Amino acid sequence: MTLLRLYPAPTQACTLEGLYLDTPLDHAPHAIPFVYSNFVTSLDGRVAVEDAAGHDEVPTSVANRHDWRLYQELAARADALLIGGRYFRQLAEGRAQAALPVADDPAFSDLLAWRRTQGLRPQSDVVVLSNTLDFPLPETLLEQGRRVLIFIARSLISAERRDRLAAQGAEVIGLDAEPDAASITGELDICQVVRRLGERGYRRIYSVAGPYSLHSLLRHGVLDTLFVTQRLTMIGGERYQSLLEGPALAAPVGLSLASLYYQQDVDGGAGQLFARFDRRASAEAAGR
Ligand SMILES: NC(=O)c1ccc[n+]([C@@H]2O[C@H](COP(=O)([O-])OP(=O)(O)OC[C@H]3O[C@@H](n4cnc5c(N)ncnc54)[C@H](OP(=O)(O)O)[C@@H]3O)[C@@H](O)[C@H]2O)c1
Repeated sequence: MTLLRLYPAPTQACTLEGLYLDTPLDHAPHAIPFVYSNFVTSLDGRVAVEDAAGHDEVPTSVANRHDWRLYQELAARADALLIGGRYFRQLAEGRAQAALPVADDPAFSDLLAWRRTQGLRPQSDVVVLSNTLDFPLPETLLEQGRRVLIFIARSLISAERRDRLAAQGAEVIGLDAEPDAASITGELDICQVVRRLGERGYRRIYSVAGPYSLHSLLRHGVLDTLFVTQRLTMIGGERYQSLLEGPALAAPVGLSLASLYYQQDVDGGAGQLFARFDRRASAEAAGR
């Protein structure tokens, strides 16, 4: 699939496959992991809409196989995927969009092979953020050889739920809650999560979680890069679910455009833009 690179100059045609396999996802020599996330939205900024049963899901008019390819490429780069507990509840109810990447699908076998050539484990580990531990652990994760680390504020741990998840093979890690009094009460300190992951040798963390987790990552200045696919279609909807879920940020988080690609036609439908935004250097020190 051919794309048009719009930024940085010069404008030129390029191939979608492999686009995010060599985009830089590293700090200079830095013990702290590089954290990145990725969303697909409509032109009116919606990342999810309510289905007939009132459940949120990624709009089918927005999701598409080309964006999905790049989502899988970003996962191929990761040492660990970051996800919220809500995803596992959705998965157990049969409402999750898909299994965690890299998908076991012949279309992505090149990505699994790519991981092998890079000396990476066959699949990345899974880091779960939770306030509740109220979800079952999907057996497939451990069968795929992934380690599962679950982080929760120590004050919110239910011993019964912790023991159940540990018996299923996960490691449950209790941390101090956010020190910031203005924060969401009792919530996990995401800076500590990233630090702990760095201590364990994780270097690239890919957040495939939703708008609530992105709010935490931005609020604490731990997100390095955000990839946004914007499908050039307006979809509307009663409830507006954007990239961020949570209170207004105390300080706006500035980002810089690092790259922008245009796909004019998506399988005969509206086109899309693939943007990469990097956190601006001025925010670099926040929370680290
Ligand atoms: N368009 C897109 O690209 C895109 C991408 C991702 C998701 N979505 C959509 O967005 C909607 C919500 O996604 P989601 O529920 O997977 O993601 P989410 O909003 O990030 O997940 C929320 C859950 O994550 C846990 N969590 C997140 N941050 C936490 C923190 N700092 N401390 C403690 N726990 C934390 C909590 O789990 P507990 O409830 O266990 O406490 C919380 O319920 C879904 O409809 C999904 O389809 C769209």
